[in-house]
Amino acid sequence: MLPALFLLLCALAAPHIALSAGGDRPLAAVPPMGWNDWAHYQCHFTAETILSNARALVDTGLRAKGYNTVTIDDCWMKKDRDEHGNLQVDPERFPHGMKPVAQAVHALGLKFGIYEDAGYETCGRFAGSGEPDGGGRDHFLQDTKLFASWGVDYLKLDGCNVYVPNGESKVAAYRKAYKAQSAALKRAGRPIVFSESAPAYFQGTPDWYDVLSWVGDYGQLWREGSDVATFHAKEPDRPRFHSVLWNYAYNLPLGRFQKPGNWNDADFIIGGDTGMSTAESRSQMALWSMMSAPLILSSEVGKLSPEAVSVLGNKAVIAIDQDPLGRMATLVRRNPSIDVLFKHLKGGSYAVAVLNRANTPSRIELSPADLGFRSDAECRLDARDLWSGAEQRAASTLQAEIDPHDTAIWSIHPAASCGSPSRTGTITMTAAGRHRDINGYALCLASGQVGACSGSPAETWTVTSEGALQSQGNCLDVADGKPATQPCSDSKLQHWRYNLTGELINASNGECLTAGATQNLTLESCGQNRLDQIWSLPN
Ligand code: GAL
Repeated sequence: MLPALFLLLCALAAPHIALSAGGDRPLAAVPPMGWNDWAHYQCHFTAETILSNARALVDTGLRAKGYNTVTIDDCWMKKDRDEHGNLQVDPERFPHGMKPVAQAVHALGLKFGIYEDAGYETCGRFAGSGEPDGGGRDHFLQDTKLFASWGVDYLKLDGCNVYVPNGESKVAAYRKAYKAQSAALKRAGRPIVFSESAPAYFQGTPDWYDVLSWVGDYGQLWREGSDVATFHAKEPDRPRFHSVLWNYAYNLPLGRFQKPGNWNDADFIIGGDTGMSTAESRSQMALWSMMSAPLILSSEVGKLSPEAVSVLGNKAVIAIDQDPLGRMATLVRRNPSIDVLFKHLKGGSYAVAVLNRANTPSRIELSPADLGFRSDAECRLDARDLWSGAEQRAASTLQAEIDPHDTAIWSIHPAASCGSPSRTGTITMTAAGRHRDINGYALCLASGQVGACSGSPAETWTVTSEGALQSQGNCLDVADGKPATQPCSDSKLQHWRYNLTGELINASNGECLTAGATQNLTLESCGQNRLDQIWSLPN
């Protein structure tokens, strides 16, 4: 039997184990980048819409910055299949069929992506690839062969209208469909990046965590939640930043599920489009990059202002997104106006971002110790502000005045005396029943309870390599059967095992840290994806 300590270390390290066994670069080794029509056009598009955006990616220089895949979303096909069961391209939108469109996209030096659905109909009620309603033969392989014949490089498989046979669970029906699509892609004869929407159909339920634990076996990225707000021609200036914040809020706690070749997808970049100010567009780019989220633009590229193009094309910010480690940012601190994020980059440098959610400017000053570095007077940071390019040498703190809805972002190189950063930041859980609103979605762990995040020192935790959870010099322990902070010792009651589901399991008694109904902490037997037992730790 393996020693318990070894198992504990493995469990704590597991989310960061990267790359495939043979050392080969996996498909989508870094988060996919590109463009998709959906959030701007929905079903109002033709072949020309797609091609004019593809050309605009080239002309604006955004293709050269990495936005390299053009994907056609829902509504490209007819409602029915032909007599051989083949999908039929909508002849009004695509009078010459799909292949010439794919070829034209390829000729521009771009990859070509397409949308389908794991159900019998897409969300727009066009022909889906999945089992017919009531059961029968699916079309995953047949459709995949068709896509491969067009030269498809990327498939987004949505999850509307999945047939769930009597006696089968919804999770099992989705898993069967996504597994079948994954098997079909292996027979496509060309590499096709697979974007799965399955988790989005379970958001907010215990099954969400189950689905999130297997999508990585089948594809490279997955949409795990609700859509970012779309553009509407009738009301083009409707504000959309709230939806960006919501998608950020639900994506941020899911870091343990991602690694190179497996990405949480927080949905499209609408930054630069109407309904988003320049500050808000900067925020979306900075937040998505801190999360290593796919950067898939969905706007009218030819109409982006030069300022928007420079935000979306900021090479230094994109490099944070595309960092080969693929680590999720840690939420270092959250108060009612500000989020502080910290991210490990390859080669011993780091990124720091501060989001100002408030409607008034906010000042921030961060010390190296706030970010998990050793509290040492010699510890100084070389920092680069990624929006202005301004460099600071040997700074003792990072300081900024941040406009409403804007996000400051730096790359930092610490001096040797700073040491390696400890895993320091908030420990959060998602609150039941609060939806589509960042405020209140995450609850922060403080000493004996969870509650609205306030940014207080009691909400800052360091996860040690032994699995202790330290805050303000004390460790989370169990006293009189209840979790509470106590002076740190080597008691096994102070060691917590963290698993992929997100449970914190006490090493001494095998019970799970639970947020009771009154938000006071309890220890209870671990359940099956119990939402009051699922935690998000510093990464
Ligand atoms: C939604 C999906 C959107 C878009 C749309 C098409 O389910 O989240 O991104 O693909 O369907 O109908």
